[in-house]
Amino acid sequence: MANLRDLYQELIVDHSKQPRNFRVVTDADRHAEGHNPLCGDRVTIYIKMEGERISDVAFRGSGCAISTASASLLTESLKGRTATEAENIFDNFHNLVTGAGETGPLGKLAAFSGVCDYPTRVKCATLAWHTFHAALRGAQADHVSTEKA
Ligand code: FES
Repeated sequence: MANLRDLYQELIVDHSKQPRNFRVVTDADRHAEGHNPLCGDRVTIYIKMEGERISDVAFRGSGCAISTASASLLTESLKGRTATEAENIFDNFHNLVTGAGETGPLGKLAAFSGVCDYPTRVKCATLAWHTFHAALRGAQADHVSTEKA
């Protein structure tokens, strides 16, 4: 029987090869672009809100397997959540991949629990999340870089 690490690996490979919600939200009311200048990978996150709730979230871009899987699972995890719930999941996910502290229940996002052992991959796992966070906070296009200017 596959152990948990194998199942997590399978989930990441599945989402990297067949990313969910890989599309433009044409009527998005918020979006942001994220960029990792060290590798050139880019992601754009689109959010459609209905009141306080995220009614749709999707992404486009090109990136490595970890960043693509992370963006895909982000969209699955945050669609239908309120902005406050999404902020809490963002904090928990960030703590998980950086090994910085407590995480609440993360469901499928727990597949990224091994990332904290590979510091160079933390930016891959968090690129879409920082981009999502910027989009959520601002109603206008924003630009996010994994590196300080
Ligand atoms: Fe570029 Fe992972 S190698 S985000």
